[in-house]
Amino acid sequence: MSGLLVDNIGELVTNDPTCGEGGPLGIRRDAALLVEEGRVVWVGPARDAPAADRRIDAEGGAVLPGFVDSHAHLVFAGDRAVEFAARMAGQPYTGGGIRTTVGATRAASDDELRATVRRLRGEAMRQGTTTMEIKSGYGLTVADEARSLAIAAEVSEETTFLGAHVVPAEYADRPDDYVGLVCGPMLAAAAPHARWIDVFCERGAFDVDHARAILACGQAAGLGVRVHANQLGPGPGVRLGVELGAASVDHCTHLTDADVDALASADTVATLLPGAEFSTRSPYPDARRLLDAGVTVALATDCNPGSSYTSSMPFCVALAVREMRMTPAEAVWAATAGGARALRRDDVGVLARGARADLMILDAPSHLHLAYRPGVPLIRRVLHNGVPR
Ligand code: NIG
Ligand code: FE
Repeated sequence: MSGLLVDNIGELVTNDPTCGEGGPLGIRRDAALLVEEGRVVWVGPARDAPAADRRIDAEGGAVLPGFVDSHAHLVFAGDRAVEFAARMAGQPYTGGGIRTTVGATRAASDDELRATVRRLRGEAMRQGTTTMEIKSGYGLTVADEARSLAIAAEVSEETTFLGAHVVPAEYADRPDDYVGLVCGPMLAAAAPHARWIDVFCERGAFDVDHARAILACGQAAGLGVRVHANQLGPGPGVRLGVELGAASVDHCTHLTDADVDALASADTVATLLPGAEFSTRSPYPDARRLLDAGVTVALATDCNPGSSYTSSMPFCVALAVREMRMTPAEAVWAATAGGARALRRDDVGVLARGARADLMILDAPSHLHLAYRPGVPLIRRVLHNGVPR
């Protein structure tokens, strides 16, 4: 007898369509699940549950795969609450505040940055996030990008080099030189700590030629591609991501029919970040249009001090349902299995034999309550790698 049995599960969302009802969510009722050595080793009806030496009683609550937040910027210093207040009084968001955070981040010690990353990672974990991608992008020097990623890698295996977030002030009149720095010594220092490379491809940040050059250098160094695309206006970012085989293009707020067609015929995920539209008071992306075209959609927080200072995946699920015309089931899938697709992971975002034992137990009878009861702390317990957190 060994392992940890989670039983008395009223509704188990497996995200394994072969294993239950409810389409992609693969829902089982009156279920139990056995964990050994950080993995799910058995899923089945509660009455057939094997014996185990430890037990967690879900008390009839819903159990879901942990959230997979595939887009977050946690390595920063400083506070931009005043910028948020100005936006709520009518100022537009332009991304100009990124340089404010770059200044504060460069001035911070490693321990200050580490404390912020750990605080936000812990905050997210308590809200059900068991996998969290973390980007650099507020250092923008060789040393500051490398240390940002080293600190991120202490708490996540999903780290992303975003040296091409904006052109820093000291390179404002020579962006070609900055692109050379990013592709050369900065990438060399960052790559040992990173799995992915990302570029903010947007007017005012990096144009399509610079973005393509940077992403190609990252690919040549063994990094996977993701793109910040089509956030502030229409542009070439989404199609560039598809062209380069990106795992994900993120934001997707302003899409043409050609962008949607390109996504529908590729295996690039469209990651939607409704916290950014909420916090910049912008129109939300049209999730319905993407889903109806057959595009794989993920939801993520974009947690950062400027455009979306939330670590809450339940909040993003609620926004997606209320504001982006996703069904509760689609939003829950996008925040779990969709995030896993966006990170090209098949061991998370799913509760089936062999998957990582990353899950949350809700103080609610079904996944519907995540959107039905917005703002309520419904996550009663979290297991990460089989360990209660
Ligand atoms: O994803 N768009 C670019 N980067 C962040 C915002 C960063 C900031 O405002 O500090 C984003 O929204
Ligand atoms: Fe972002």
